[in-house]
Amino acid sequence: MSSNHPVRVIAVTGGKGGVGKTNVSVNLSLALAALRRRVVLMDADLGLANVDVLLGLDVKYSIADVLDGSRSLREVLVNGPGGIKVVPASSGVQQLVQLSNHEHAALIHAFSDISDQLDVLVVDTAAGISDMVVNFVRASQEVLVVVCDEPSSITDAYALMKLLNTEHGVSRFRVIANMTRSAKEGRMLFEKLNTVCERFLDATMSYLGHVPFDENVRKSVQARKPLLETAPNSKAALAVKELAKKVDEWPLPGGPRGHLEFFIERLLASSSADTLV
Ligand SMILES: Nc1ncnc2c1ncn2[C@@H]1O[C@H](COP(=O)(O)OP(=O)(O)O)[C@@H](O)[C@H]1O
Ligand SMILES: [Mg+2]
Repeated sequence: MSSNHPVRVIAVTGGKGGVGKTNVSVNLSLALAALRRRVVLMDADLGLANVDVLLGLDVKYSIADVLDGSRSLREVLVNGPGGIKVVPASSGVQQLVQLSNHEHAALIHAFSDISDQLDVLVVDTAAGISDMVVNFVRASQEVLVVVCDEPSSITDAYALMKLLNTEHGVSRFRVIANMTRSAKEGRMLFEKLNTVCERFLDATMSYLGHVPFDENVRKSVQARKPLLETAPNSKAALAVKELAKKVDEWPLPGGPRGHLEFFIERLLASSSADTLV
């Protein structure tokens, strides 16, 4: 049942709402797909402006249908733009923190079933530092923190990283500065966060890069189409494509950590471990 095919699992998070997590998740997914990676975007946000809304997807089934055994994960996956596939958000996502043994097994099996058909799993997380966000992030191999140059974004991102680091042992964060007015502003924003992290956390932060403020992003959201399709040569789209190239060059984890089953096991194990302590 287990496959040996490595899958990169990237959680996109940030603490605060409205900083651009969903837009980064969607467009990074499309850019990675354009680099010929097979990408599944998992929507782990039950909020309003989530992936299926942003992409105007027609969603029939959800993770809840996988859990009760009525659908396979393949049937739940929705074809998105640019060849990406989407696991739509549903209340089933929240259920993931309290599964029965049977549901647990069903979910592991469902993901094993698709793991040899994807290279990258991008997880778009909700705002805030709920258990659900923490669970998804700490189960992922890579944590992408989206920040923008506002005090509340910086403090929320720091609070999230602090919790993940001190309580859950997450020790590596990658940062994207979004809605920047210049490359320099993005770099300075990263330095600000990095200074605090170096001093107070036992974690490494690295800067992935910035996505400039670009009106085309808002327009694409209104059109319910991804920026990479509505304005592929816009400043923001070009920036995302650059970031995707870097992401694609990150080393892949070897051994069990690089397998999709590991993500799901960890997603489930982490939640039950909490209730035991
Ligand atoms: N690079 C950008 N330039 C301009 N506006 C942006 C940019 N990124 C995001 N936005 C705006 O911010 C809004 C919130 O983005 P979204 O991705 O939904 O944030 P989150 O998922 O963090 O809540 C979008 O609807 C868009 O209008
Ligand atoms: Mg969002």
